Amino acid sequence: MSQAKKIMVTGGAGFIGSALVRNLIANSGYEIMTVDALTYAGNLASLEPVASSPRHQFVQADICDKDIIAELIKNFQPDIITHLAAESHVDRSIDGPAAFIQTNLVGTYSMLDAAKTYWEKLPSDRRDQFRFHHISTDEVFGALGDEGFFTEQTAYDPRSPYSASKAGSDHLVRAWYHTYGMPVLITNCSNNYGPYHFPEKLIPLMILKCLAGEPLPIYGKGDNVRDWLYVDDHVRALQNVFENGIPGESYMIGGNSERTNLSIVETICDALDTLRPRVDNQSYRTQISFVPDRPGHDFRYAIDATKLKNNLGWEPRESFETGIAKTIQWYLDNEAWWGPIVDGSYAGERLGTNKV
Ligand code: NAD
Ligand code: DAU
Repeated sequence: MSQAKKIMVTGGAGFIGSALVRNLIANSGYEIMTVDALTYAGNLASLEPVASSPRHQFVQADICDKDIIAELIKNFQPDIITHLAAESHVDRSIDGPAAFIQTNLVGTYSMLDAAKTYWEKLPSDRRDQFRFHHISTDEVFGALGDEGFFTEQTAYDPRSPYSASKAGSDHLVRAWYHTYGMPVLITNCSNNYGPYHFPEKLIPLMILKCLAGEPLPIYGKGDNVRDWLYVDDHVRALQNVFENGIPGESYMIGGNSERTNLSIVETICDALDTLRPRVDNQSYRTQISFVPDRPGHDFRYAIDATKLKNNLGWEPRESFETGIAKTIQWYLDNEAWWGPIVDGSYAGERLGTNKV
């Protein structure tokens, strides 16, 4: 019997990384090493469902530490590296860009350098099969107006420190393909949502603020648009791309679910009015509060994922309606996961005002 293929997942204790690890352990035969620094956003509780799997191991390490990363890669001998570790929150990048430059740029360089040293020494059959998959965002393309979609041909035009650092990391990854021939893949995805999402991001923040009876802070008029994708659909796309994608190419991943921020918050309020009515029987919508806008707030993101559909046969399975219902129910059922975060590392304060 041939040996199970091995995948190193950086950032695997975060929101999307942990969903990838949980799904791969449940639905594939891969052996997985998760590498994560456990920053404020990393949480071993998100990996609890795979804790007893003999096909999963967790290592706490900083991707910026090239020597440690090189050692881990050499010992584990991965067939695929999926690189998700990043500082991911736009508002935090406005208040403190340094960590974003360090992890997203220096950290990605460190991963590429360590991966290249390892890849060059592989026997030729394994060298051809090796993949370095960089997980990126649609934010590298800047902002759309009312019309149009981002495609693989859209020019880069990042505007926040977060998106600029991710754009730079995409360019580094492409450079390792063109210059050294390393077989890389890049995916650029729209806004994810679902279980285990850190409650600084719009959807989990609003669910928990509803339950806490706190104001629901909507930036500006709430008319900015995001294209929402259920996280398990993203994870299926990632697996499809690292198994079937063409090295050197990039793939757009999106949810076909454009919504204004205000409509997202109203949907959450209305669902909770039914599932967990307020004691005073008023609607959660009364908690909505319009606050000053995010500096440099990108107006609209929308993805054209035709390439992924036509070439690799991927499409989202969840509609926004089914995905948001599952997500809200998950937060209602899993206070054991989010309670310690809200009580400890993060109290739901407004970030991204550039006043820190
Ligand atoms: P997240 O913030 O939930 O998780 C990031 C993980 O990376 C955390 O577990 C954290 O501990 C780890 N990490 C941070 N710095 C590290 C370092 N120096 N060394 C090792 N580990 C480190 O982020 P997420 O939402 O899961 O996003 C994962 C990736 O997907 C990111 O690269 C992000 O840019 C990209 N992405 C996210 C979305 C989205 O909507 N969340 C959409 C498109 C792309
Ligand atoms: O598009 C992909 C990106 O989506 C990822 O690359 C990022 O890692 C991820 O964080 C996400 O970025 P956004 O800035 O779009 O997500 P966020 O949840 O922070 O905000 C979504 C929208 O909601 C945005 O227009 C800002 C608005 N917002 C956000 C918060 C936290 C509010 O109106 N109020 C809030 O309190």
